[in-house]
Amino acid sequence: MMQINTIAALRAHLAQAGTVAFVPTMGNLHEGHIDLVRQARGHADCTKGRQSANRQADCGAVTVVVSIFVNPLQFGPAEDFDKYPRTLDADCAKLEGLADVVFVPAVNEMYARQQTVFVEPPPIADELCGAARPGHFRGMATVVLKLLNTVQPQVALFGKKDYQQLHIIRQMVAQMNLPVRIIGGETVRAADGLALSSRNQYLSAREREEAVFLQQTLDKVRLEILGGARDYAKVEADAASVLTKRGWQVEYVSVRDQESLGIPAVSDRMLVVLAAARLGATRLIDNLEVELV
Ligand code: PAJ
Repeated sequence: MMQINTIAALRAHLAQAGTVAFVPTMGNLHEGHIDLVRQARGHADCTKGRQSANRQADCGAVTVVVSIFVNPLQFGPAEDFDKYPRTLDADCAKLEGLADVVFVPAVNEMYARQQTVFVEPPPIADELCGAARPGHFRGMATVVLKLLNTVQPQVALFGKKDYQQLHIIRQMVAQMNLPVRIIGGETVRAADGLALSSRNQYLSAREREEAVFLQQTLDKVRLEILGGARDYAKVEADAASVLTKRGWQVEYVSVRDQESLGIPAVSDRMLVVLAAARLGATRLIDNLEVELV
């Protein structure tokens, strides 16, 4: 695996690459990230191979690129940008044998000029996680566009753990006609069900025990909906109140339509239950899809 730190060197290195599959991250890698990296190699896009005499060989030649960049633009002033765990050596050790290139730009490489052009995300970016994190999705979408333009992959992989982020990226790619296929990876969880996250390490031992309750609450909501509950506002309020009583500071529990992330009509059948809540100083998010057949 090769570590590359500048945009020019990355472009030069990838100039001869066949299919490029890309996993953007902020580092401090865990099994959730690694699962996306493993999937990347299997998601070769064969459009190049289709025009080639040696399609099989071209399809096999996937270059897997992982970026590690803690993006200041997506952190609010009171958020954990400085404190965000930076563990490059351990990250590279985990990627060895799985990725071909790890792209690790400095902040002044990604933002060489003052950034005055931004991606204006869709209105949904002001709801759910966006309500408590103004500007977060604008900063996220801006860096993802810059990274996609830098790496120019055929395929890019993102986790469903950050469901709203994935939705906004899909909208950006579709509406801006970006020539990249976006793949959503399933959420990787600890044995007890807690979604893996770099922020889990901020939890005290007691909080870590309690943390699993977020996923359990979402699962309870899922079962209620599968059992026929259709008053989603009530289901959400009940779940939030249970979490609050256990000591969580709840930002939201919300039942949404999978496709639009809008408030579902009673006839909508592909749903997702999303939540964000704090345990002490640590903000956790999770979601579960619910499909009514
Ligand atoms: P980061 O939090 O490092 O996550 C990188 C990718 O890993 C994202 O697509 C995220 O959804 C995915 N991921 C995180 N935890 C996961 C889990 N438990 N299971 C499956 N996938 C998981 O998300 C970001 O970085 C940034 O916003 C980024 C897109 C890199 C832009 O800065």
